[in-house]
Amino acid sequence: MFRLMLSRALKSINTAEKRGKHQVLTRPSSKVIVHFLTVTIKHGYIGEFEIIDDHRAGKIVVNLTGRLNKCGVISPRFDNNLLPSCQFGFIVLTTSAGIMDHEEVRRKHTGGKIMGFSF
Ligand SMILES: *[C@@H]1O[C@H](CO)[C@@H](O)[C@H](O)[C@H]1NC(C)=O
Repeated sequence: MFRLMLSRALKSINTAEKRGKHQVLTRPSSKVIVHFLTVTIKHGYIGEFEIIDDHRAGKIVVNLTGRLNKCGVISPRFDNNLLPSCQFGFIVLTTSAGIMDHEEVRRKHTGGKIMGFSF
């Protein structure tokens, strides 16, 4: 369920970025989407975002910077041990310590389920 929502949000971001838009509105909002975007901001691929409480499912306005090539969801069936070393971009995982990128997972010597990527 959260994967479908994340996948839809990331698709709308990719589309807006490709069209050269400076902002994109995606709905509904979810914790998973917010965590994914937070990791993506840390890497400098997107600008800040704002969560809008519309008394429904919520929405997120994301500022785009033209630095994102693509982001997306990766199937959880993808074997973690085959994780590419990621010359560019990063992989986002969900772990018992929260949602983080593969570098942080490695640093913390933890493991997790793969969620998606950005580059
Ligand atoms: C997004 O960009 C607009 C226009 O540059 C700016 O006014 C706004 O403060 C930005 N929003 C966030 C959440 O940084």
